[in-house]
Amino acid sequence: MKALVTGGAGFIGSHLVDHLVAEGLDVVVVDNLSMGDLHNVKHQDEVTIYVEDVRNEKFMQQLLQEEQPDYIYFLAAVASVADSIERPAETHSVNQTAVFNMLEYIRKTNLPIKQFLFTSSAAVYGNLPELPKKEDSRVDPLSPYAIDKYATERFVLAYGELYDLPTVCVRFFNVYGPGQNPSSPYSGVLSILTDCLNNKKPFTLYGDGSQTRDFVYVEDVIQALWLITKSDTEHEVFNIANGNEASLNAIIETYEKVAGTSLQIKKAPGREGEVKRSVANIGKLIKLGYTTKWSLEAGLSKYWEGA
Ligand code: UD1
Repeated sequence: MKALVTGGAGFIGSHLVDHLVAEGLDVVVVDNLSMGDLHNVKHQDEVTIYVEDVRNEKFMQQLLQEEQPDYIYFLAAVASVADSIERPAETHSVNQTAVFNMLEYIRKTNLPIKQFLFTSSAAVYGNLPELPKKEDSRVDPLSPYAIDKYATERFVLAYGELYDLPTVCVRFFNVYGPGQNPSSPYSGVLSILTDCLNNKKPFTLYGDGSQTRDFVYVEDVIQALWLITKSDTEHEVFNIANGNEASLNAIIETYEKVAGTSLQIKKAPGREGEVKRSVANIGKLIKLGYTTKWSLEAGLSKYWEGA
């Protein structure tokens, strides 16, 4: 069995690649290293890596023909809400057009895949009051990022239904853990917090810190992805989260305790297009056998140990 992982040198992608290699799959990675890093890929001798952009349509088509993957995990993305507001056109070309082009090519050439898994986001739910978010909760995408993720989900599911392709979508909540790149102001907040605590840098807090998120340790995310693959599920959407809501203030406090050091905080106005509260119902995933192995405290301790 062969798996193609776009964004496979990135934070979540590289953890997935490790797991797929351990499961005995042949793994092919495409990553343009915009946020990813080849050092993230542990078993480089066992993985075929192409440093390429998923927007290179010709390249991607040739790759699919040559490699004939059974499983496709589409993780390549502009991964930040705030970044998408700065670069809406570029976000769209990666987060939607590249995915659409691949689906269209698979349809036209009848490529015999076993699963096409698209990684969407909790950002699609927006600021509607129902909590926790279920996969069939109403959506209200507020940023170019969330709009692209939601629209692409719809393409992925419709292509699945209309052309009988084995497609599935997941909505990541806030994933954290080793390998998340803190170098951009648009990086995930826990990678930035880790960097600030480690290097005694001031942390910029956007808003009053009362915004909440459902933080999930990357190992639990990989567990969920693999369960979805093994279950042969198709035409479904799954939340991938921990199922607990925590405010940014509470996370900072917990992390300061774990790290045994305090953070220097600079306040800044809240970011545009952001979700105020976020927490998932993970019942659908639990039915597949998912159990969260990492509480926030345990995950943060593990992350801090390796930082
Ligand atoms: C994150 C993910 C996104 C995923 C979504 C699902 C990243 C970069 N983004 O978006 O891919 O689809 O979860 O919910 O991993 N913050 C600060 N200071 C900082 C950075 C962030 O206060 O230096 C705040 C933000 O304003 C936000 C919160 O921390 O309120 C989380 O921000 P961020 O880590 O960028 O995540 P999301 O926008 O939730």
